[in-house]
Amino acid sequence: MKISNIILIFFFVLPFAYADLRVGFYGRSCPSAETIVRQVVQRRFNRERTVVADLLQIHFHDCFVRGCDASLLIDPRGQSRSEKQAATNKNLESFDLFDDIKAALEKACPCTVSCADIIALATRDTVALAGGPRYNVPTGRRDGLVSNPSEVNIPGPDLSVSQAFESFFRGRGFSLEEMVTLLGAHTVGFTHCSLVRNRLSSFGKRDPTMDGALDAKLGRTCGSSRRPAKNDPQIVLDQNTSFVFDNEYFRQIRKGRGVLHIDQQLALDNLSRHIVAGFAANGASFNRNFANAMIKLGSLHVLVGNSGEIRKNCRAFNNPR
Ligand code: HEM
Ligand SMILES: *[C@@H]1O[C@H](CO)[C@@H](O)[C@H](O)[C@H]1NC(C)=O
Ligand SMILES: *[C@@H]1O[C@H](CO)[C@@H](O)[C@H](O)[C@H]1NC(C)=O
Repeated sequence: MKISNIILIFFFVLPFAYADLRVGFYGRSCPSAETIVRQVVQRRFNRERTVVADLLQIHFHDCFVRGCDASLLIDPRGQSRSEKQAATNKNLESFDLFDDIKAALEKACPCTVSCADIIALATRDTVALAGGPRYNVPTGRRDGLVSNPSEVNIPGPDLSVSQAFESFFRGRGFSLEEMVTLLGAHTVGFTHCSLVRNRLSSFGKRDPTMDGALDAKLGRTCGSSRRPAKNDPQIVLDQNTSFVFDNEYFRQIRKGRGVLHIDQQLALDNLSRHIVAGFAANGASFNRNFANAMIKLGSLHVLVGNSGEIRKNCRAFNNPR
């Protein structure tokens, strides 16, 4: 093999390969691991449907910072700050689910299953419970040793499609189709009025790409510039089947019912509109693509082998500094 080819493989292919993770990593060391995760997730889902969106967003925000290493689960402690304190992470919920899962796993197989793997497995399980695709998650991730709020750089909702794509492509290697697929996660969950006001006529900012009925409805929820609603109300991202994991998000944004600027732009921008049209027409194709894109998201810059550690408590490093 030519030297230049070897260099090519080292620098461009390996960082995106999933070879270090494998399906069934805990088959010998903790055979019940995936069953335990699924049972705890199922109990929470029965009580709280919102856990699906909570976990999808946590998984995304964890993997985009230092890779999928559970750096997002660390609590601030004394002088030590953590990713949870970054502005884009302030609204994240359901962290206590990881306490429940970790406690059950530590009882069955102490110091064996990483918090990073728990996030990937639990997110997979919530997607299936909400009606989305079932897929195998490769495991073997290790937990990170750093959690720093100043490293958090999650793309914002007012970006254009090409600006958002920058952040998915550069250093992370996602295709545009994979980004559009992953944004299909907005088929569940909520945003807040504060992030949508700049598109509403009641705030003097009518965005002509928004469907008139939706503009009126959001005006009732969010109030107006003269009388803004108190406590920053929540708004569902998928205006039709808000708690079902399906391809309805893509159909809604094609009707001008995208809530965030980026949602609406996906359906309009020449770069992405054909991808959106494809998923709107074909739910099975969205499901297949989503499973693959989640496996790729979950493999981003993972720690394996002897790197990092297996945390005993997902909220704290084993040896806090
Ligand atoms: C360009 C990419 C993205 C942007 C700009 C974006 C932006 C946002 C914003 C602004 C919110 C509302 C946050 C709030 O009001 O508190 C949100 C919610 C959400 N995002 Fe994204 N997002 C992106 C990609 C993703 C990806 C890749 C996933 C997962 C695979 C995801 C899953 C979610 C979910 C499930 C919610 C609802 C959370 C909840 O209800 O708890 N997003 N996103
Ligand atoms: C809501 O979703 C269902 C199921 O996908 C669909 O049949 C229906 O037409 C949608 N309704 C609206 C108003 O978009
Ligand atoms: C998209 O493409 C059409 C023609 O194919 C063009 O007329 C339109 O200006 C383009 N829109 C944007 C936002 O680039």
